[in-house]
Amino acid sequence: MPWRRPKKIEQRAGSPRSSPEERLELANEGEEERETVELASLDGASIVEAATGQPERDERAPSIDIDRERLADAQFVTTALKDLPERGIDLEVDAARGLRLKNPVLTASGTFGQGLEYAEVIDVSRLGAIASKGTTRNPRPGNPQYRIAETPAGILNSIGLENPGAEEVARIYGPKWAKLRVPVIVNVAGYSVDDYVFVVGTLAHTPGVVAFELNVSCPNVKGGLLFGCDPLLAAEVTRAVRETTDMPIIVKLTPNAPDVVAVARAVEEAGADGLTAINTVLGMRIDTAKRRPILGTGSGGLSGPAIRPIAVHITYQVAQAVSIPIIGAGGVTSANDALEFLMAGASAVQVGTATFADPTAPIRVVEGLAAYVKERGIASIREIIGAALPSHHPARAMEDPPDA
Ligand SMILES: Cc1cc2nc3c(=O)[nH]c(=O)nc-3n(C[C@H](O)[C@H](O)[C@H](O)COP(=O)(O)O)c2cc1C
Repeated sequence: MPWRRPKKIEQRAGSPRSSPEERLELANEGEEERETVELASLDGASIVEAATGQPERDERAPSIDIDRERLADAQFVTTALKDLPERGIDLEVDAARGLRLKNPVLTASGTFGQGLEYAEVIDVSRLGAIASKGTTRNPRPGNPQYRIAETPAGILNSIGLENPGAEEVARIYGPKWAKLRVPVIVNVAGYSVDDYVFVVGTLAHTPGVVAFELNVSCPNVKGGLLFGCDPLLAAEVTRAVRETTDMPIIVKLTPNAPDVVAVARAVEEAGADGLTAINTVLGMRIDTAKRRPILGTGSGGLSGPAIRPIAVHITYQVAQAVSIPIIGAGGVTSANDALEFLMAGASAVQVGTATFADPTAPIRVVEGLAAYVKERGIASIREIIGAALPSHHPARAMEDPPDA
């Protein structure tokens, strides 16, 4: 997909609010000024942590800007039932054990705000579910600027899990999520097993929340190793969270692990109900004029179409190793991309970076999948899950994998 600046969205008649793109542009205008202040006051660096395996230093208590007036005032887009192209088409899936969704299209954590911002632009109730922004025990200010760099087929980010902390998230967003008419999966991050347990315990009874997605691309303060890179550590977190809640637990795999399949097996064994494959891939860009990395943290996480083949490959490998459902993520921009993941063994997909260029992308994917089921005359979308796996084509199971 050619990478392009986000298009401006037509403002709805009579709405004094600006679109997310306009707000993003406005925010970017102030970026240069804020940069000095933020560089001086911040030292959190979760992506660097991910790159170096070094746990972050002290978390400070930042003030996170939340536009409470806008939140109170938000008007959500709705669509009449009769106008839904997916109406009457069986798109239901089990995205994780105990998590049946009306369709397999979710939004990816960190790319869809807290859902509320986008609910003013698209009808989020047409989605299978949304994943919240990464939520930590304490508030986090996020990383120094720049936090985003464009690449030919995606973006590098080092947002650094900016969020107001679990208790504030429950207090501020819970009442809104309850009215959103779409299930919310809380994305959880932490630096110790206790952090994950705390966040899950804090949000388990929050209205609208149906499941937890554990972002294990964080270093463990005890040893510096990323939870998601080590099967034992990943299993330890999963087991502890399992003891905290009966709600579905989805573990989000990092492609930066030496053996992703081993991590997937270990967390399934420890009680995970599902997996998300994958989080971002580590990468870097250099500003050749300044002779410095572009991102404030040096390295960042690559997302978007560039990583789709990696994500499909991992989904395909993991699907053959576990029996819990997998949610595919990485560069989904169209229904055909989603079909690739489903045929590779995913039961659902997340749309992330694509929503920055086109906020309607997740809805387009729902409509495209509905059209596929209708045009092919198949009974449900579930029929194509795993259709490309060797188990569906026994002859192929005999073939040797390529060396490189
Ligand atoms: C700006 C940005 C912020 C992200 N924040 C989070 C996060 O807080 N927690 C998480 O688990 N993944 C986070 N991710 C990773 C995405 O959820 C997703 O796994 C990844 O981007 C691949 O999907 P995509 O190519 O469709 O974006 C973030 C990605 C981006 C681009």
